[in-house]
Amino acid sequence: MNLLIYKTLEELNQDLADYVIKIAEMSIEENDRFNFVLTGGSSPKALYHFLATEGQHRIDWEKVYFFFGDERNVPANDDNYNGLMARKTILDPLGIKEDHIFYVNTTLAPEKAAIEYKKAIDKHFNGEDIVFDLILLGMGDDAHTASIFPHTTLVKDEEVNVAAVYVEKLDTYRISFTAPLINKADNVAFLVFGENKAEALKHVIGDTEKNVDLYPSQLIDPIDGKLTWFTDDKAVALLDS
Ligand code: 6PG
Repeated sequence: MNLLIYKTLEELNQDLADYVIKIAEMSIEENDRFNFVLTGGSSPKALYHFLATEGQHRIDWEKVYFFFGDERNVPANDDNYNGLMARKTILDPLGIKEDHIFYVNTTLAPEKAAIEYKKAIDKHFNGEDIVFDLILLGMGDDAHTASIFPHTTLVKDEEVNVAAVYVEKLDTYRISFTAPLINKADNVAFLVFGENKAEALKHVIGDTEKNVDLYPSQLIDPIDGKLTWFTDDKAVALLDS
């Protein structure tokens, strides 16, 4: 696990954009495509804007396929829909073609949406092992990642899958990659910054005794891939040096 700590968000996003571009270049070189899983939430917006502007001419975006590690159970035109945030910040600005974007179909019931999303992923990987080139993750101040929230069924889900999960604290359903699916990736990068994440990060990275039901981000431990944390001074403030 690689822990990178930045003084400013400008430096963090610059480095994270370079990291994404580098993995994209290698993946396109090797497989003629880059399978990239986006995270939702607010943290990645600046990165996506960075990639769509400074990164616009650095790789062949026509060879990039975009997925979502989780989605809210809301209509696609809802401001809370991760796909809409991504469309506004990176997908439309880069002119990404619709057949290169895998949105979660939230017109379906959550369980059905999860099944259909997994089918679309299986089809994209042509029935082969689902190994994404890069999965970008955020982390909530309650140590959830994707939609693997504390005390939910997803914490215990050992399937390599996409699943629907009822999140009691939000009183809503989510559709999310399971931890085993995330852990198959070649590269996983957490984007975690700000004082409000420090308490959770102290436990997720600092605790020797794991408690995944309380701190689900502890589940993220790629089998063969590399895990990198992009953080700032504030988020790591409670970690022992
Ligand atoms: C989502 C995300 C979720 C997010 C964290 C952090 O759908 O909300 O996938 O896991 O990454 O909640 O969100 P912020 O970046 O807004 O702090």
